Amino acid sequence: MNDTVTGSDRGKYAAAKAALDFIKPGMKVGLGTGSTAAWFVQLLGNLVNNEGLEIVGVPTSSRTRDLAASLNIPLTTLEDAGWLDVTVDGADEFDANLNLIKGGGGALLQEKIVASASNQMVVISDASKQVDALGAFPLPVEVVRFGWGSTESTIEEVLVGADVANRRITMRMDGDEPYVTDEGHYILDLHLNRIGDPRGLAEALNRIPGVVETGLFVVMADTVLVGYDDGNVHIYDRDGGNMGRKKVHMPGEDSLYVPGA
Ligand code: A5P
Repeated sequence: MNDTVTGSDRGKYAAAKAALDFIKPGMKVGLGTGSTAAWFVQLLGNLVNNEGLEIVGVPTSSRTRDLAASLNIPLTTLEDAGWLDVTVDGADEFDANLNLIKGGGGALLQEKIVASASNQMVVISDASKQVDALGAFPLPVEVVRFGWGSTESTIEEVLVGADVANRRITMRMDGDEPYVTDEGHYILDLHLNRIGDPRGLAEALNRIPGVVETGLFVVMADTVLVGYDDGNVHIYDRDGGNMGRKKVHMPGEDSLYVPGA
């Protein structure tokens, strides 16, 4: 057994496996970013290589593109695909309305663009991401590098009038340097503890010129699959609430762990 396999890893695996039910031959599939999405990409690669599943993927980050390419999953760009059937991605938090915080992995902009260009967004998660109110996880906000300090000040002003429990802002770092996204921007992490009005905050932040996008995904996820370490998966649907459960087969732990993207 690999020592690094945790209950959370097993839950992520279970959710990723359940998401395969949403994939049909011929589909154009958005491929999310992060450790949970990496499980999905791995499992999708197995179907492509071992069972001849014909799909084409659109990655949401350079990391996911590299992983999918290494698994020989056919890839295209969003420009060439035009419109996608489904996107499968992870999340940092989700609430009862299936609103999300994303961007812990720094790929929120491409993730949001790809999800917005999809008929359906399926979110895969372990149980730790389910919250009563968003905001314990710091909210990533992607900002252009030019004048980022002024943008941060404007964000501070917006937060004064927002329904949040805390207002600390930190710059996402990569060692000693600011983290730079695939699109060449910085990320500011907003430590808010609780976001009372996700839609209102997203709209207010998006009105700031230096803000490119926020990690608030409001009314975007159609389905959330929550995986548990025993292979159970709870299914939440935006329109119908809790839509049921299923159980996926869990492999032996020796073959379970692959490094996340
Ligand atoms: C990437 O930018 C994020 O949006 C991820 O989808 C999110 O951080 C979830 O990541 P994990 O699956 O690694 O928890």
